[in-house]
Formats: sequence, structure tokens, C-alpha cells
Amino acid sequence: MYENPIEALLSAHLSYEVDSISSFTEVKSPYKKFVRPYLVSMLDYAEEEKLTEDRLALEVNDLMVAGSDTSAVASSHALVMLGMDEELQERVYAELREIFGDSDRPATLEDLAMMTQLEMVVKETVRITCPPHMARTVERDIILPGKEGAKERIIPTGATVYMLLYNLHRNPKYWSHPHEFHPDHFLPEYEATRPKFSYLPFSYGLRICPGYKYGVYSIKTVLSTVLRKFKVKSNLDKNNLNFRLSIMLELADGYPVTLEPRVPSE
Ligand code: HEM
Repeated sequence: MYENPIEALLSAHLSYEVDSISSFTEVKSPYKKFVRPYLVSMLDYAEEEKLTEDRLALEVNDLMVAGSDTSAVASSHALVMLGMDEELQERVYAELREIFGDSDRPATLEDLAMMTQLEMVVKETVRITCPPHMARTVERDIILPGKEGAKERIIPTGATVYMLLYNLHRNPKYWSHPHEFHPDHFLPEYEATRPKFSYLPFSYGLRICPGYKYGVYSIKTVLSTVLRKFKVKSNLDKNNLNFRLSIMLELADGYPVTLEPRVPSE
């Protein structure tokens, strides 16, 4: 028995010919209609690359977890924060009204690029909620030169290095309101003064999050769609939030919001 529905679905698919997948109806999972096109392309990839079943299941799981929980936590967090700050929410809404007017058409990529207020909210959201730490194994000695005549230091091969994004994103050297939700951190004039590596919610380099652009697009799409239609309210206390560590930093008390329909042309 599989506890994870993705593994169950994948395993069931693997026992069928790829061609017969479209007629496959055995697996009862709410994820089925979303994951089938993805699984089909992964099966093609696995065939080409001759991946073992275990390796394929691992890859699929990784992407499903890394790609869904992260964006869900960020979208939920942003909604709660907007729900506790009416003035901020109205700023975001005013911009959405400017972009969409009374139209209820879906957002396009061009629309998303114009949502600068929402972009600041999303950037601030992932400053707070991104994975708080990452670990790497050192593959060859790293020499850290000593400052001002001090001795150099060596991080030896095989050591594990923890990078604490949590601390980086709350360092008062770079953030005027380190422990608050303050989207103005991302006003262009402040962004320009911060060193490049002071903000790494998606990591950096060869192992940078491969889904970061898609993640930001999807979060902006979800948030703008909800905020155009509803006024969001949350009764959490923004000065007394409890966090718990998962892949992301989640709110321990969940994401309670109420949605009040917006009156058209409000
Ligand atoms: C708010 C959204 C997201 C945040 C904050 C985020 C953050 C990160 C971070 C910090 C890492 C590096 C972790 C490490 O090296 O230990 C990472 C890796 C990864 N992310 Fe994301 N991510 C997000 C959304 C997504 C999405 C939407 C996808 C896929 C569609 C995705 C797929 C992945 C994958 C596959 C990796 C592993 C890459 C590797 O090990 O080389 N992520 N993400």
C-alpha cells in the first residue's frame, strides 16, 4: 500500500503501457486529472533516460512536493497578511482595478508583469516563508581568507554547511523591519541598496529552484484572481504569529480568512 497518492498513481501507471494511460480509470485520486499529463511526460523521459522505477518515483515526488506545497504556503500566507492589513490590500486592489477595470478576464503574462504592488507582497511573503535553511556537502576544501591579518580558515571536504536563509532574511543590516511583514522592503530604491546575495528565497547557482519563475507567476495568478473578486479578512494578530517549520515556514495556527465578495465597480 502506498501512503502517498502520487506514488500510488505512478506505480499504477507504470504497470500499464504508456499508450493505454488515457483510458486508465482505476486510480481514485483527486490528483489524477492534474498529474496525468505530467506523469505521461515523465514516463517518456524515464524511458529515454532509462531511469529505474524507484528513481522515477523519487523524481516525481520531489517535484510534486517542491512545486505544490511551497506555492500553496506562500499564497496562503500572503492572503492572511493582506487580510490583516486593509490599507495594504486596498493598495493592491487599486492596482488590479487599474489593470483590469470591470473586466473579469483571466490574467495574462503582461498583466502579471504590471502587478508591481502584488509583486512586492509576494517577494516579502517569500522573504518570510521560504525554506529557512539549506544544507550542502563540501566536495573540496574551501579556503576562507582571513580578514585584516587574521588566519585563513578552511571548510574541509566532507563537511556539511548549513545556510540559514532565516537569519539572512532577518538581518537588520539589510532589512529595516526584519520581523514584520513589510512589502516596502522591495521598493526599487531599497532593493537597489541591498547586496545581491542578501535575498535568496529560491537559493542560487546550479541548484537554484528550477520552479521559481513559475512559482511567482502562479502565486500572483492565484492572489490576483482572489483579490479582484473578494475582500479578504483574517482575525489573526500580525504581532503575534506562531510559525512552524515544514519545507517552508508555515503559520502554526493555519490560514483562517473570510472572503467578502467585492461589489462590481467598487
Ligand atoms: C514560493 C515558491 C517556492 C520557493 C520559496 C522555493 C524555494 C526553493 C529553494 C530554497 C530550493 C533549494 C533547496 C535546497 O537546495 O535545499 C528549491 C529547490 C527546488 N524547487 Fe523550489 N521553491 C518554490 C517553488 C517551486 C516550484 C513551483 C517548483 C516546481 C514547479 C519548485 C521545484 C523545486 C525543485 C525540483 C527543487 C530542487 C532542485 C535541486 O535540488 O536541484 N519549487 N526551491
